[in-house]
Amino acid sequence: MWDRHLVSRAWSIAELRRLAKRRLPRGIFDFFDGGAEDELSLNDNIQAFQRLKLIPRPLVDVSSIDLSTLLLGRRSSLPVAIAPTGGPGFGRHGSDVAIARAAVEAGIPYTLSTSATASIERIAREAPGGRLWFQAYILKNREFLAGLLNRALAADYDALMITVDLPVGGKRERDAGNRISFPFQFTARHFRDFAFNVRWLAGMARYGMPMVENLIGMETQATNAGRIASSVGRSYDPSFDWDRLKRMRDEWPRRMIVKGILHPMDADRLTSIGIDAIVVSNHGGRQLDGAIAPIDALPAIVEAVGGRAEVWVDGGVRRGSDIAKACALGANAVMVGRATLFGAFAGLEAGASRALTILTDELERTMQLCGARSIGEIDRGLLHESSVPASAVRRPFKEAR
Ligand SMILES: Cc1cc2nc3c(=O)[nH]c(=O)nc-3n(C[C@H](O)[C@H](O)[C@H](O)COP(=O)(O)O)c2cc1C
Repeated sequence: MWDRHLVSRAWSIAELRRLAKRRLPRGIFDFFDGGAEDELSLNDNIQAFQRLKLIPRPLVDVSSIDLSTLLLGRRSSLPVAIAPTGGPGFGRHGSDVAIARAAVEAGIPYTLSTSATASIERIAREAPGGRLWFQAYILKNREFLAGLLNRALAADYDALMITVDLPVGGKRERDAGNRISFPFQFTARHFRDFAFNVRWLAGMARYGMPMVENLIGMETQATNAGRIASSVGRSYDPSFDWDRLKRMRDEWPRRMIVKGILHPMDADRLTSIGIDAIVVSNHGGRQLDGAIAPIDALPAIVEAVGGRAEVWVDGGVRRGSDIAKACALGANAVMVGRATLFGAFAGLEAGASRALTILTDELERTMQLCGARSIGEIDRGLLHESSVPASAVRRPFKEAR
């Protein structure tokens, strides 16, 4: 009740982040908030949006605005989809379902991560009426992975997203400093951090340690989330390559999305194997530190793809104006990760919904101030050309490797 009140008064994603930070032990908050190594990419993801400058075109009747768009052939009420995130239940029990329900209410797609803390079936059951996509990590255990894909088909997920930027885990130094590792082991340091978070502890005491539910049964010994998460780390398949991706594309009967692309040559090659959408992403700055900000990589990728697939972008979306900037550079949509995570940690479904309402209101206001009445009317003319990085403008690219 109190949470609901607090999140209803939050005016920005930054404010929801502050509320989430207050509610979680530091080590847990840092796990969700942090990035790899020096966090150069994490910070640059946000700053790259801030560097882009808008040029408003007033004197347009903006009394009625249409924010909807088509994503993979179906209408979405916003050019936004929920990005897959692993482990939300470690922040707060029920966060996966809360975010999925908020997405249904907002009329946008929701992507469930392989390593989420709710199963494929639970999300389909507890967030009915929405549009669901399943994100697969490539597990060494091919039989188990095939089982997951069959479960996603049976539960009516209408697209499969393959994440390709995680052949190995990134080096996340906040986690190392906070001694957050899997399997989780308590130390005196954790005691100090966690003991002051009565609410977080009470949640864990009431509901128990969350499970990475999709992976139950992958290893017979994996009985709790810590053990399962550690087995996931060991279970990624770093040998996954173009040939296997092509075979997966041929076998999967519905739409396929590839997430974690930053190079135009790769984007070009993906269209030639029949990928329906590409997510330009550096995994929210959690993998390769120093990787280009996705919004900076976007223009060259849009050009390389030339309309043969949809192009979405994620990483650093914290304002509705960021969504407008991404659309201006040719993205069909953005995905959001931390924005709705922070909302859910602050106030479960009400908090995740609040995050989406904030982004919606800001996008609408930005469009009205800029003189754009629909997503289709947002184009490159909305941006000051000198604020778009020169390297990203009309860059020639060579043949794919
Ligand atoms: C805590 C956390 C867990 C994540 N887990 C996954 C995952 O399981 N699969 C995946 O493809 N991406 C994962 N991502 C990356 C997101 O899908 C997305 O690319 C990123 O969060 C976008 O950046 P943003 O958080 O700034 O919006 C994760 C990101 C965070 C913050």
